[in-house]
Amino acid sequence: MEPVLVTGAAGGRQGSTGRHVTRLLLERGRPVRAFVRADDARAAELRSWGAEVVVGDLREITSVIPALQGVRRAFFTYPVTEGMLDATAVFAAAARREGLEQVVEVSQLAADPYAGTPHMRRHWVSEQVFDRAEVGAVHLRAAVFFENLAVVADAGGGRELRLPLGSPETVLPLVAAADVARVAAGLLTAPAGEADPICRLTGEIMTIGQAAKTFGGGLTYVDQDPEEWRREAMALYDDTVAVEHLSHLWELFRVIGSGHDLYQVTEAIERIGGRPPLTLHDYTSTPSSP
Ligand SMILES: NC(=O)c1ccc[n+]([C@@H]2O[C@H](COP(=O)([O-])OP(=O)(O)OC[C@H]3O[C@@H](n4cnc5c(N)ncnc54)[C@H](OP(=O)(O)O)[C@@H]3O)[C@@H](O)[C@H]2O)c1
Repeated sequence: MEPVLVTGAAGGRQGSTGRHVTRLLLERGRPVRAFVRADDARAAELRSWGAEVVVGDLREITSVIPALQGVRRAFFTYPVTEGMLDATAVFAAAARREGLEQVVEVSQLAADPYAGTPHMRRHWVSEQVFDRAEVGAVHLRAAVFFENLAVVADAGGGRELRLPLGSPETVLPLVAAADVARVAAGLLTAPAGEADPICRLTGEIMTIGQAAKTFGGGLTYVDQDPEEWRREAMALYDDTVAVEHLSHLWELFRVIGSGHDLYQVTEAIERIGGRPPLTLHDYTSTPSSP
């Protein structure tokens, strides 16, 4: 059986979706070619699970073409940082050249040409590039990962969840990165050509006040001044693209606020992923270790 190429396989701070996908596919007996940026301890662990590891840079065509040779299906993810459109163009061109039948890629819930954050707009452009490449693209339009709030909770010293979201009643659509990966694995192991090209993934909808209480035995939500948040975020994320994206994202949620029915838990997580969505409570009580 030909391997599935999984990018982002080492995992990172934003969701480790690629690492989850690697584990899930191997558990199902599918060979995995794991694409990593560095041959480090995480890569060694992937080998110990049974994955074939290839090292390269997703923005570099001479890394990506060889990685896709002999592959029919792939999982593509790229973190919120500089270079996503470069990586998308490289990966889509290489996938087209190598004749892939399916590329499952991580996008964002509100990807749209006029979305409220620059990075969501880039995700929409990225979706278009994959569509034009005709490689059976499926776009996983995911809500805010639980992991995103966990980074903020960790920074709050076990007492506070500090975000510029206005009232504690501000509502957020959320999902576990592990559920995004479970859906990806379901798609990558299903018969080809059956999936809708856009797959929206929201696992739980809750207020930021409720979310804070769910972490670490109960944190207090603190409505932080947006400018102060932005300054502190640079120390936390050390990435201008991530801080720009998150600043706009929190502002959007703050303006939308509460008392609306814009968000819905999506059925695709259970239908394709094979089990009901994880809740934030599940996630905080038994953090999933990919
Ligand atoms: N966070 C959220 O709330 C949220 C919500 C919805 C959608 N999303 C989407 O989820 C995606 C990020 O999740 P994720 O699970 O992929 O993030 P992640 O856990 O940070 O993992 C990213 C992986 O990509 C690798 N990588 C980074 N740059 C690379 C390069 N140039 N070449 C090869 N590999 C590279 C990293 O390797 P190293 O660690 O070695 O650098 C890491 O293993 C983004 O598309 C984001 O928009 C996120």
